Amino acid sequence: MRRLLLALPPAIALLVSPLPAFAQSWPVNPASDGAGQISQLFWFTLVLATIVFVLVEGLLIYSSLRFRRRSPLASVEPPQIHGNTRLEVMWAAVPALILVGLFGITVTRLGELSQIPSDPGVMHISVIGRQFSWEFGYGNSGVKTTNDLRIPVGQQVVFDVTSLDVIHAFWVPNLWGQIDANPGRINHITYTANQAGEFRGVCAMLCGAGHSGMLFRVTTLSQGDFQSWLQQQQAGGAPAPKPNAAASPPPSPVVPAPAASPGLQPSVAPAASPAPAPGGPAPANPPVPAPGGASPEEGAALIRQKGCGGCHTIPGIQGANGTVGPNLGGVASRPRIAGGAVPNNGPDDLKRWIMNPPALKPGTIMPNLGLTDDEATKIVAYLETLK
Ligand code: CUA
Repeated sequence: MRRLLLALPPAIALLVSPLPAFAQSWPVNPASDGAGQISQLFWFTLVLATIVFVLVEGLLIYSSLRFRRRSPLASVEPPQIHGNTRLEVMWAAVPALILVGLFGITVTRLGELSQIPSDPGVMHISVIGRQFSWEFGYGNSGVKTTNDLRIPVGQQVVFDVTSLDVIHAFWVPNLWGQIDANPGRINHITYTANQAGEFRGVCAMLCGAGHSGMLFRVTTLSQGDFQSWLQQQQAGGAPAPKPNAAASPPPSPVVPAPAASPGLQPSVAPAASPAPAPGGPAPANPPVPAPGGASPEEGAALIRQKGCGGCHTIPGIQGANGTVGPNLGGVASRPRIAGGAVPNNGPDDLKRWIMNPPALKPGTIMPNLGLTDDEATKIVAYLETLK
């Protein structure tokens, strides 16, 4: 008894622990209009199924108790019943009607949800899946992010989803259902986020050894914050002094503030953000020294020397426009790196990763470059400026 009592608190903790996660899950917290409709359908089906369950199980229990054998010595055989046409028709027809109804509602709603607007003013974000990360491209602004999707609240966004290798599936449960990312084909989904926040995105198709780590973060921002972020990325992804950049716009020649226009495409001029024009002005925001003392400039020189740009696009490094590996814009502010395989809680994590990638993520195509501790510290000092 005593042991049982001792086991009680951990058992309760175990039962209650998934609750915070559930409170954030999509049926409870749909964060887009589309997800709200899917959620309604979910609750409707759940309530209907619960009613049917209680009814059927209740009848079963009632009959078992009501018609049980009471006396151990039953001398008379009770009446034997074979078939009841009316009952049988009813229990075939009622479930069939319920299913047809649910089917009708689901198909209608799916039809409404999968309407893709053809209006050229609607904002497009390209989604490219690869083993094992996601790359997002923001209209024709030239801005790209990896495993870090940002979208404005209250503005419809069309996602153009494809893959570079095998089939993946793009899914942000709080915002919409999932859609396949097929190589050689572009699938479209659309949604309008209706609350600011951070949400979890996953790859929902078993796609290889790194599938479980193919996670990404979705941040929904107010339209003003989104535009400032986009401009900051266009200016080279250098850290902004304040999240609200409206008061002090970065001194960049890229674009004027497009806050008045809702669409991304008409409002943002094409700009080759990673590589400044030859002979053009110096980078607008010179990297600030890291707290550790290593200089980002030395890191940038090492990044050029080691040829990181052959595989990665790296803001602020001229000629670093590779597409084999993820774009490193904003790498320092990603919660996870290495396609989700490695947590990123500070410079040490980034350093551990670049010093020996295959040890941290078996199967990765990122090679071990044999960096010394000092070289890795300097490179990380530069990468940490890419917020
Ligand atoms: Cu990509 Cu699973």
